[in-house]
Amino acid sequence: MRLNKFLAHSGVGSRRACDELVFQGRVMVNRVVVHEPGIAINPEEDRVFVDGKRVILKTRYTYIKLNKPAGYITSRKDPHNKQTVMNLIPNVLDVRPVGRLDSDTTGVLLLTDDGDLLFKLTHPRYGIEKKYDVYLKYPPQQGDPEKDLPKGIVLENGDRVTGEAYPQNNKKTHYTVILREGKKREVKRIFSYFETRVAQLHRFEFAGILVDELPPGKWKKLTPQEITHLKTLTTQK
Ligand code: URA
Repeated sequence: MRLNKFLAHSGVGSRRACDELVFQGRVMVNRVVVHEPGIAINPEEDRVFVDGKRVILKTRYTYIKLNKPAGYITSRKDPHNKQTVMNLIPNVLDVRPVGRLDSDTTGVLLLTDDGDLLFKLTHPRYGIEKKYDVYLKYPPQQGDPEKDLPKGIVLENGDRVTGEAYPQNNKKTHYTVILREGKKREVKRIFSYFETRVAQLHRFEFAGILVDELPPGKWKKLTPQEITHLKTLTTQK
């Protein structure tokens, strides 16, 4: 097995982050510092260390979904001691959030210790679908999200985004939005482009996994069917 794959599968980080650790000289195989992330190792015989700490290959992973409430940041730790989503998950589950939701955004957030799947679900190449319920303070003042978003719009910093937006009421203050990228504050910036402001943002689906009936702040393990679905989605590309 390749060293970077071993590290990612052990939950050390994404494949890219693991490559970086190797380049930084922080990884040892059998007490020898290595500099090539793609070298082959034998997980049963070789002993791998990151920053001097032994890394054990995980063979069973944890996959969970959380209905993130407002007021929690998506991070493992916060330097200012704000509440993080990790405060809602038992410590024994050594999982990481898959992507990010803003502190005031609610809805489905996946967490896992499967570094390889985490990397794929957040990589733009896989175009993972995210679906949001968007409530606006007032209707769009310029343009038409339903017509313009599928053609592509250019945000304030030059990012070009495409997606789908379906109005859910006559006043056009409630939309369902489907995006396949994962840019920072994407939904809020999209609606700034249309000269309105988001009052409330809720993600009801991520990669085909629904938030369902989970109450805010509660989590549960994904079903075997849901896990197979995620793996199928990420092996097709
Ligand atoms: N877009 C946003 O603006 N915020 C989120 O939390 C997710 C998508």
